[in-house]
Amino acid sequence: MRDESLILEMMLDHTPSTFVLGPLAGLELSRFVPNPPPVYILDQLVAEMHPAWLEQIQNNCTNCEQRTLLVQGGEQFKSLNQLEKIYQWLSEQALTRDGTIVAIGGGTVLDLVGLAASTWRRGVNFVSIPTTLLAMVDASIGGKTALNTAGIKNPVGSFYPARGILADVGFLGTLTCSDWRNGMAELVKTAAIGDAVLFAELHAARKKLNKTLGHSEADQPVPGILGALPWGDWVGRAATVKVNLVNRDFKEKGPRKALNLGHTLGHVLEAHSHQSDKPLSHGQAVAIGMAVVFRIAAERNLCPVPQALEMIQLLEACGLPVTWPAPPVDLLETLLAGDKIVSARSGLSWVLPERIGKIKVDAKVQPAELLRWLEAPEEG
Ligand SMILES: NC(=O)c1ccc[n+]([C@@H]2O[C@H](COP(=O)([O-])OP(=O)(O)OC[C@H]3O[C@@H](n4cnc5c(N)ncnc54)[C@H](O)[C@@H]3O)[C@@H](O)[C@H]2O)c1
Repeated sequence: MRDESLILEMMLDHTPSTFVLGPLAGLELSRFVPNPPPVYILDQLVAEMHPAWLEQIQNNCTNCEQRTLLVQGGEQFKSLNQLEKIYQWLSEQALTRDGTIVAIGGGTVLDLVGLAASTWRRGVNFVSIPTTLLAMVDASIGGKTALNTAGIKNPVGSFYPARGILADVGFLGTLTCSDWRNGMAELVKTAAIGDAVLFAELHAARKKLNKTLGHSEADQPVPGILGALPWGDWVGRAATVKVNLVNRDFKEKGPRKALNLGHTLGHVLEAHSHQSDKPLSHGQAVAIGMAVVFRIAAERNLCPVPQALEMIQLLEACGLPVTWPAPPVDLLETLLAGDKIVSARSGLSWVLPERIGKIKVDAKVQPAELLRWLEAPEEG
């Protein structure tokens, strides 16, 4: 675990946003909260599992219970209905334009509460405390907020950076295996995009990863995992990659698109699978998406074959899937056409690896290629 704090500064559309990683990061909260005192919206599971940490976060809070809204995290939380409930509660709190909302939870809580913060009174101060691996390395950084509607994932949202992001890997000890795997998919993605040394370290640690994540029950915690691997170091390095990307390209016009590696196909597989009896989690869908684009890139001689194999080995070591039954081509085309990454002018934009640490954005991929590489190909 990391002993010292890591502080990463962003300037996103003239708005400062600071990521702090370290022990007792919650103590930094007051730095990001001007008067009046904040309101807190937090994941109920986190409240139950980490009461002492919350006490620390809320140590200067008077009438704390009244100023705290407990919500149930998970994809179903990112709905218009839940947003309306948050607005109702903010109204009861009489939260004015100079107020602050502190969100504590995984990516789903941060996405929706961030959207509420960006729209309530046309934007109030927002601070986020990510409590899942995925939220620490990805969702909390870069100011994207979202909800799901019209059967589509994340079509509504805003760019609204949190003033402060306070991450402490101590929260991760209570995650289920499935949530660890979801986070690993994004951690591996981030390393593959921008830190080849981190990717090599993750690949070298694949036996340990496999021991902890490879065979555990998805809905059970993973005893011992927190101390077994250098999570603080890995989270800090992945966060650094994302911070650098969003600092260069806040509104996703160019380099930030690299973060969609594996997501173009992943999103549609995830949405489609939820109509079946085998729903995919976000991380599982992204893992399949990454495996497919690495295979396509290797076949096109864009990316070295051994690197594509390393990616697949690493994902499999984490207990993530790398293949999926291919849907009929016309269904795949319809699903892809409904995805948010479609641009009216240029059609679907794909992110392909050129090698670990170097990514090509705005590539073109044909549905037939996807189908060819979705189902168990021979891998040496
Ligand atoms: N905004 C962005 O840039 C961005 C980037 C990537 C992903 N996302 C979004 O993030 C979401 C996924 O986030 P997630 O994987 O954190 O899922 P999540 O928020 O659903 O959290 C997963 C589960 O873990 C529980 N939980 C949270 N913290 C915990 C803890 N410390 N201990 C035990 N349980 C805990 C939650 O209650 C939930 O059941 C998706 O909706 C995705 O679209 C957003």
